[in-house]
Amino acid sequence: MPGRQDATTLIANIPFFQGLNEKTCKAIARAGKELSYKAGDSIVDEGSMGVGFYLILEGRAEVRKGKKLLATLERGQFFGEMSLIDKQPRSADVVAVAPTRCWALTAWSFTGLVETHPEMALSMLKELVKRLRAAQSSPTP
Ligand code: CMP
Repeated sequence: MPGRQDATTLIANIPFFQGLNEKTCKAIARAGKELSYKAGDSIVDEGSMGVGFYLILEGRAEVRKGKKLLATLERGQFFGEMSLIDKQPRSADVVAVAPTRCWALTAWSFTGLVETHPEMALSMLKELVKRLRAAQSSPTP
């Protein structure tokens, strides 16, 4: 596939991991695995218990709650963190809307990574604040 890069290179170029050195990016890439989805595949199901954290390497996914579209996520964006953080069921469905490649991490590795790289927690918080602001400004049904 043209332009296909390995997970380490992709991870190193994703803003979420900015500031991490190559060795760390390699370690991170090794800790997770790549998963591929076709357009229409469900990646995360609302109500199920969360076991993974996902980062989009390529493609596009929609976050849906019932009929409502909450967000469209693309390369470099993550999802699945909520369930891992509060141990509650998945808050929404996440569905691939194009051929999509994700890099996925188990709950255990996710926690370890955030503990060893606190700058990742800050990156994640920034994105969560952005999502909260977007949710606050979206019209109520
Ligand atoms: P989780 O609840 O584990 O599984 C569904 C995921 O969808 C959730 O984690 C977030 O990563 C993502 N998500 C939920 N609500 C929103 C939103 N309003 N904007 C963007 N992403 C969301």
